Amino acid sequence: MADVNRDDVNKDKDKNITGTENIAETITRTKNIAETKNIVEIKDLKKSYEKGHIKALNGIDLEIKEGEFVSIIGPSGSGKSTLLNMLGALDIADSGIINVAGYDLTKNKKLDEFRSKKIGFIFQLHNLIPNISVVENVEIPMFEGKLSGKERRDLALELLDIVGLKDKSNNKPTKLSGGERQRIAIARALANEPSIILADEPTGSLDSRTSKKILEQLNKLHKEKNVTLIMVTHDMNVAKLADRVIEVLDGKILNSTDNSLLDDNIDIKS
Ligand SMILES: Nc1ncnc2c1ncn2[C@@H]1O[C@H](COP(=O)(O)OP(=O)(O)OP(=O)(O)O)[C@@H](O)[C@H]1O
Ligand SMILES: [Mg+2]
Repeated sequence: MADVNRDDVNKDKDKNITGTENIAETITRTKNIAETKNIVEIKDLKKSYEKGHIKALNGIDLEIKEGEFVSIIGPSGSGKSTLLNMLGALDIADSGIINVAGYDLTKNKKLDEFRSKKIGFIFQLHNLIPNISVVENVEIPMFEGKLSGKERRDLALELLDIVGLKDKSNNKPTKLSGGERQRIAIARALANEPSIILADEPTGSLDSRTSKKILEQLNKLHKEKNVTLIMVTHDMNVAKLADRVIEVLDGKILNSTDNSLLDDNIDIKS
């Protein structure tokens, strides 16, 4: 399972990656992504609530490449969280096809295994457990695996070091700021070395300086670990950090725009 030796994670630690990648690098990345295989394949996915009156997803077709960073943007109620919940098998679709990281999520089989092995979740309400320490919160997803108590602790401390919170490892989450709690949620999302990180408004409640730090952290981890990152956001400036921006409206995908084309073509109204 988890690879405890993560020295490689630290090697670019001081490099400011977010927003500073030049055009040549972006083109190379886009080219590399185009040559890799899909980690997400969705066809005509539908999900309704209230006995069919609310069509939260109304025929989604979507492919996402392994290692891609995708933002999902759109007005409130357009279906962004519903789509993210489907991708993480937190909810089951009414019809359509959804394959994620080799799992057929419509089959309703091995969904616990899928969630614990393949997915790291980061939500705006980060669901930290208040009465245990920061480091213990990060260890929670590791209990599914085969690590010893010491290995779990060492790995949790390494992850906290990556997000700059090693010195707070023995604090209770209630003693920390919103941004610090969000960084713990990132460390915890990485604990099982997931293939995909699903983030729903990860910076929604944070000030712009803290948001920037969180996004730098996510982007850095995505690039260094080649984790596929799928992030819902209302903020176009945040969305633009991704390789591709997907705009959702009324449960359907309206646009899918590569980063290099964003400024010219996209017209987001959220
Ligand atoms: N559990 C539920 N029961 C009934 N309706 C729901 C449920 N979850 C979502 N909906 C409805 O489905 C639609 C899509 O909701 P969703 O949460 O996906 O929107 P969203 O794009 O994430 O919005 P926001 O930006 O406000 O978070 C909305 O009309 C919402 O009210
Ligand atoms: Mg939402």
